[in-house]
Amino acid sequence: HRSRIQSLLSASPLLPVITINHPEDAVPLCRALVAGGIRVLEITLRTRHGLPAIHQVRKALPEAWVGAGTVTSIEQYRQAEGAGAHFVVSPGVTDTLLKFGVTAPIPLLPGVATASDIMGGYNQGYREFKFFPAEIAGGRAALQALSGPFPDIEFCPTGGITRQTAAAYLSLPNVRTVGGSWLTPEKLVATKDWAAIERLARDSLIDACK
Ligand code: 3PG
Repeated sequence: HRSRIQSLLSASPLLPVITINHPEDAVPLCRALVAGGIRVLEITLRTRHGLPAIHQVRKALPEAWVGAGTVTSIEQYRQAEGAGAHFVVSPGVTDTLLKFGVTAPIPLLPGVATASDIMGGYNQGYREFKFFPAEIAGGRAALQALSGPFPDIEFCPTGGITRQTAAAYLSLPNVRTVGGSWLTPEKLVATKDWAAIERLARDSLIDACK
């Protein structure tokens, strides 16, 4: 599992956090992100369209890595597997979720915000975590501080990150990927401006690698 999460994180410096409000948006939206160069995607289970969207996107875009986000229970974890998700992301950790993730068919990227959260996951073998909510939980300074006691941990910070701040996070040695919803702005999705989303993905990748 570790190597699979590592491959996912090394496959993209940016991880769009996608929430689907209209089922017909899922495939064109994800296609635009992939066309813009981002092929690791997180579709949240925050709306009832999340699971069917994962299923559709898996079928329509075989080149994409599709994760299920906002997974907080074993039931949702199983549903994500059933929908064909490649991986699961949680906003936080529970002992139950961490244990389940160790032996589940698809790997878990658990969300942490504190040293205690990290220790809970570390003891079960996790070495890659989502850092959430990144900006509020201390941002870059917190990630630098956490690298002291946890030198072998890699983080995917998410929460409050923008196209403008992504590069600064990515310059940290313990960050290879940053996540966020800025890649799918509500206004562009509402107007189904897929070309603009593709451009935003491409431009954000360029900025991220500066
Ligand atoms: C998440 O679930 O990871 C966050 O809602 C994404 O955070 P953002 O909307 O601030 O980018």
